[in-house]
Amino acid sequence: MPRLKVVTRDGVERVVTGKAGLSVMQVIRENGFDELLAICGGCCSCATCHVHVDEAWFDRLPPLGADEDDLLDTTDHRAATSRLSCQLPFGDALDGLRVQIAPED
Ligand code: FES
Repeated sequence: MPRLKVVTRDGVERVVTGKAGLSVMQVIRENGFDELLAICGGCCSCATCHVHVDEAWFDRLPPLGADEDDLLDTTDHRAATSRLSCQLPFGDALDGLRVQIAPED
């Protein structure tokens, strides 16, 4: 299974695996990272699944959607590599992806 590197808000990195076809948000949640709230369940309407993507990976992700862009504008911690993890399909092409859970708004 493809691997995902998850860095928590306090800087602890863990390598987990996730099934292809899940979103990055679902992989993070299923591996017990409760600090990523994902309140809307992946409907792109809450921004509580905000992550900062490692720069080396950012250009390999699918393009930012208009709704995702608008939601990211509502957070106080938007960075150049911000994405909503529910909008990122996980799979072999992202094996080794590294993301940090963004600070809470
Ligand atoms: S889980 Fe709500 S926007 Fe991603």
